Amino acid sequence: ANILIIHGPNLNLLGMREPAIYGQTTLEDINRNLIRTAQAAGVKINTFQSNAEYQLIDRIQEAMRDATDFIIINPAGLTHTSVALRDALAATKLPFIEVHLSNIYARESFRRASYFSDIAVGVISGLGAEGYTLALQYVLTGK
Ligand code: DQA
Repeated sequence: ANILIIHGPNLNLLGMREPAIYGQTTLEDINRNLIRTAQAAGVKINTFQSNAEYQLIDRIQEAMRDATDFIIINPAGLTHTSVALRDALAATKLPFIEVHLSNIYARESFRRASYFSDIAVGVISGLGAEGYTLALQYVLTGK
């Protein structure tokens, strides 16, 4: 199996960005943990973060050609705005899990709407960095 982890805008700031909401764990910590777990299971994993919508779209399009089997994505602020990022995922036809560190249903009302949830295999929201680990575990169980 070949897993792609996508992190959207501002997630490069994890650890210092509103830690009361998003936690102390850095993106590097999250990626390191995911890479270790995947490698222990003999599974290839790639991680990608960008603050630019088009770069996220380009990376998702690349997943159609690089033998990616499953995507785990936190679209961050683009969750609530980006038809284009949704379209990119739909174009790949690859299964994906949507992850949010915070509980998007317990915050401002504009965060409740997601352009991704109805086409995701599943959604994990509010479990902090652990949400990524749980998503990866789900994927590894299926392989
Ligand atoms: C987020 C929730 C979004 O509403 C927010 O814009 C983010 C992060 C989360 O992981 O909790 O940037 O996706």
